[in-house]
Amino acid sequence: MKYFIVTYGCQMNVHESEKIAAILEKLGYSCAEKREDVDIIVFNTCAIREGAEDRVFGNVGNLKKLKKKNKDLIIVLCGCMTQKEETAKKMLRTFPFVDIVIGTFNLPKLADYIKQVKDGRQLEIWQEGDIDEVLPYKRTSGDNAWVNIMQGCNNFCTYCIVPYVRGREKSRSEENILNEIKQIISEKKYNKITLLGQNVNSYGKDLNPPVSFAQLLKDICKLEGDFKISFMTSHPKDLTDEVIDVIANEDKIEKYIHLPAQSGNNRILNLMNRKYTREKYLSIIDKIREKIPNCRITSDFIVGFPSETEEEFEDTYSLVKQVQFDSIFAFMYSPREGTVASKMNDQVPEIEKHRRVNKLLNLEKDIQKETGKK
Ligand code: 5AD
Ligand code: SF4
Repeated sequence: MKYFIVTYGCQMNVHESEKIAAILEKLGYSCAEKREDVDIIVFNTCAIREGAEDRVFGNVGNLKKLKKKNKDLIIVLCGCMTQKEETAKKMLRTFPFVDIVIGTFNLPKLADYIKQVKDGRQLEIWQEGDIDEVLPYKRTSGDNAWVNIMQGCNNFCTYCIVPYVRGREKSRSEENILNEIKQIISEKKYNKITLLGQNVNSYGKDLNPPVSFAQLLKDICKLEGDFKISFMTSHPKDLTDEVIDVIANEDKIEKYIHLPAQSGNNRILNLMNRKYTREKYLSIIDKIREKIPNCRITSDFIVGFPSETEEEFEDTYSLVKQVQFDSIFAFMYSPREGTVASKMNDQVPEIEKHRRVNKLLNLEKDIQKETGKK
């Protein structure tokens, strides 16, 4: 029996697919090189932008041929896109050959759904769930081991679907994280450990007693062994001086921060509900550069947020020019149903979003050429 997993979206999903792989292997499946001739296919989906969802729809549609050839093929859809009940139901309707559609919170029960597949098609989407601390992972990312430290997000940036599909912030216990990392170190297969969370800087605020992210980093660095730690993603409003100091002082922490700015204009930042200003963002960058001189800094930007004017976009452009990031991701704003921004007036025309994103990416290329940064 063989399986194939198709993963869309962020590192969080890549890591969750490692959990899916472990679940399937425990059921007796082994990993196939390609999706033809397998017994089960899992699509781990992403909902962050419309483009990601369109890709999933197209590729799931293509599975019809495979199912025709092998009627026993089990097709599973999970991840952020199917956590949205409307989308999940639509997928079940559109694709009569799909067997199991589940949300993000009930993924740990995947083995049960597969065992019940003989009884008919299944759709189950839980609205909340505890962070899973039990199931193992089949690590597939070379010498990098991902470690999930928290799930969910409380920030409700007005453009973002994540809080709706991943729920509120929930941190894993520090003890469980440290035990997992000790295990990773003892396997001696991984040089790098990357801590994952939607907003790692608010790690531990929900624990009793609370543990700060800086404390977690310090405790991990006390573990013996030859390894490097990095983490993502940081929110500028929560990146404390203490965390910057820990990165500066600990040899085991990679000198790298991914710090999404999203925009360089204060009116847009406010509309996005980001809770910092351009000036505040720039002061954090200054602080990082002062305390960690060789720190690589990368960022995310959204262009064409509703009502963004040309001048306001130019503020983003000038911020990118000023900071000279090591690299940036630039995205065209994509309205996500159910979010506050999707209901705002003055949506920016697609053609204009394209122009702005290209202009920003060209600037990025020029900066990389000039500075030799990569
Ligand atoms: N449209 C475009 N980009 C988005 N991002 C999040 N939501 C949207 C959206 N609705 C971007 C942000 C975030 C990155 C992971 O994806 O820049 O940092
Ligand atoms: Fe989305 Fe904002 Fe949370 Fe990041 S911090 S996951 S952009 S709501």
